[in-house]
Amino acid sequence: MQIRTFPVEKAAQTKIHQVNLDQPTFGKFFTDHMFVADYRNGQWQNPRIVPFQRLSLHPATSALHYGQSIFEGLKAFHHRPTGRPALFRVEDNWRRMNRSAQRMCMPELPRELFVDAIYEWLSVDADWVPKGEGTSLYIRPFMFAADEYVGIRPSETYQYIIFGSPAGPYYPAPIPIRFEFKYSRACEGGTGAAKAAGNYGGSLYPAQLAMEEGYRQLIWTDACRHQIIEESGTMNIFFVIDGRVITPSIRRGTILEGITRDSVIQLLRHRNITVEERDITVDEVVDGLESGRLTEVFGTGTAASVAFISGIGYRDKHYDLPELSEEESIARQMKKLLEGIKYGTEADPFGWVTIVE
Ligand code: COI
Repeated sequence: MQIRTFPVEKAAQTKIHQVNLDQPTFGKFFTDHMFVADYRNGQWQNPRIVPFQRLSLHPATSALHYGQSIFEGLKAFHHRPTGRPALFRVEDNWRRMNRSAQRMCMPELPRELFVDAIYEWLSVDADWVPKGEGTSLYIRPFMFAADEYVGIRPSETYQYIIFGSPAGPYYPAPIPIRFEFKYSRACEGGTGAAKAAGNYGGSLYPAQLAMEEGYRQLIWTDACRHQIIEESGTMNIFFVIDGRVITPSIRRGTILEGITRDSVIQLLRHRNITVEERDITVDEVVDGLESGRLTEVFGTGTAASVAFISGIGYRDKHYDLPELSEEESIARQMKKLLEGIKYGTEADPFGWVTIVE
């Protein structure tokens, strides 16, 4: 692939020896370099790869006050057949970043500042992609409003950065989750489909209350009646009822349009497994749990990959879900297939994986 060349200032020393790349902890250590670009006078300027470093921010930096801040998450994998880093559906992350930018009144990014920049930055920090089973380099592109101004208005300046962090599994074991009926993550017409920082900030308090009850995540329900299931905060959610896979529709604009969600839907259909993208209600899920017709629940996300759900809390009840074998479990099959595609050990029927030379 022909990519443009950005100026590179190399780090004086690598930090790679300070990190255990065999068992990386999610989100704690960062590679040697980052990509930076600035938006000023109506255009993106000064794209560059520089040593990973702290930012110096004015106290009136607009993003800190009014939340014009968006991000993406994607991963690079150690591609077994070539020994090179491989990216998964990077163009889709670029498109979603620009949908988030539009919703948050921020400037869109041209393809080269997202896709080419990731290729080029990754070719500088390629040694940071861990090689072990279940590991990857988590890539975080983000943009924030940089105006030093306290009035409310769309910022006129922005900073855009890409950095990376070696990652192990986000949820190493199956997790219990519970329905949320008091607080809301998003409403129709809101910012729920954008990868906006505030969506995550607003979900922390309700998630913390659930954690105090022993749950790892919430199942968000619609803001009006708390009846229609939305997503699980760090991931989209899937239910298997009577052998059919059901996942909330993105039609209402209240959930993140997950790239892993879409990949799982496409792979299931490729295997002739029925997937229904539609409104699914709390009552339907509770009925499935009570009757035993609901056999499996799983989450999907870039960080989470395919996350197994061990049980569901509904008001003062808790339903444990059975531990299924690989032959029985759609989630286990999907995780294995998806990770195989990413590491290059399974065929890639949709051409999702690209190699970084
Ligand atoms: C991702 O999956 O990339 C996210 O942004 C979610 C967060 C849990 C890290």
